[in-house]
Amino acid sequence: MIKENINPERLPEHIAIIMDGNGRWAKEKGKYRIFGHENGVKAVREVSEGCAELGVKYLTLYAFSTENWNRPKIEVNALMTLLVKTIKKETGTLMKNGIKLEAIGDKTTLPKDCRKELEEAIEVTKNNTKMTLILALSYSAKWDIVNATRDIVKRAIDGKISLDDVNEKLINNTLTTHKYPHPELMIRTSGEHRISNFLLWEIAYSELYFTNVLWPDFRKEHLREAIIDYQKRERRFGKTSEQLA
Ligand code: FPP
Repeated sequence: MIKENINPERLPEHIAIIMDGNGRWAKEKGKYRIFGHENGVKAVREVSEGCAELGVKYLTLYAFSTENWNRPKIEVNALMTLLVKTIKKETGTLMKNGIKLEAIGDKTTLPKDCRKELEEAIEVTKNNTKMTLILALSYSAKWDIVNATRDIVKRAIDGKISLDDVNEKLINNTLTTHKYPHPELMIRTSGEHRISNFLLWEIAYSELYFTNVLWPDFRKEHLREAIIDYQKRERRFGKTSEQLA
C-alpha cells in the first residue's frame, strides 16, 4: 500500500494500537519471548514514523497493561529494562521527528529507573508539536475509570460538585486521557479479537481493525492498509446512512 492511496482529508487524528504477538513471533523462531519484545521495538519505530509522516496527530501504544504485572517476573523485568533502554535510545529520534512523548497509566508502579527515563523523555520532548506519542504503561481502562470515579466522589463529598454535575463531559474530563481526542481507529495485531482493558470509554465509536500480522512484523505498509480500510468505512455514530448523506 502506498502513501498516495490515503486520503489526507479523512485521516484519523488519533490511532490506538494493541501491539500483540511478540511472544508467538519469538516462539515460531525457537527463541525466548523477550526476543519478540526486542524485535517489537522496530515496529514501534515504524508506526511512530509512519504516523508522523502522514500527519496523524496522536498515537497511543499499549506497551504494558495492569494485568501484564502477572507475567513471570523474568519477563516483566526484561520488559522494563527494554523500555528504559528504548526510551533512552529513541529520545533523539523523537526530537528529530518533532514527536512529543507522553504516558498514561499508574506510573507509581513502574521501577524507579523506568519512571526516571520516562519522565526525562517527556520533559525533553514536551515542546514538540508534530505528533504526540502516548505510551500506555501499567495502564488499564478499568484502572482509569475507577480512579476517575473516586475523584468525582471525593469532589462531591467535599461539596465541590453536585449530583447534577455528573455527566459524560465530567467523566471524560476526569480520565487520564482527557487531553486527547478519542481514537477514530484502533488496531490490534496477531489475530486476536479482543480489547483487553484498553481505552474502553474512549473507543465507544472507534473503528476496530484486526490483522493477523504479529507485532514484530508490523511495518508502515500495514499501518497504511489499516488506514485505507478505515477510510472505506461509513461512520454513522448511531444515525442512518440517509441522514449522513
Ligand atoms: C504483547 O505481545 C506485547 C507486549 C505485552 C509488550 C509490548 C512491548 C514492546 C513492543 C516493547 C517496546 C515498546 C515500547 C513502546 C518502547 P505478547 O507478549 O502478549 O505476545 P503473545 O500474545 O504472542 O504472547
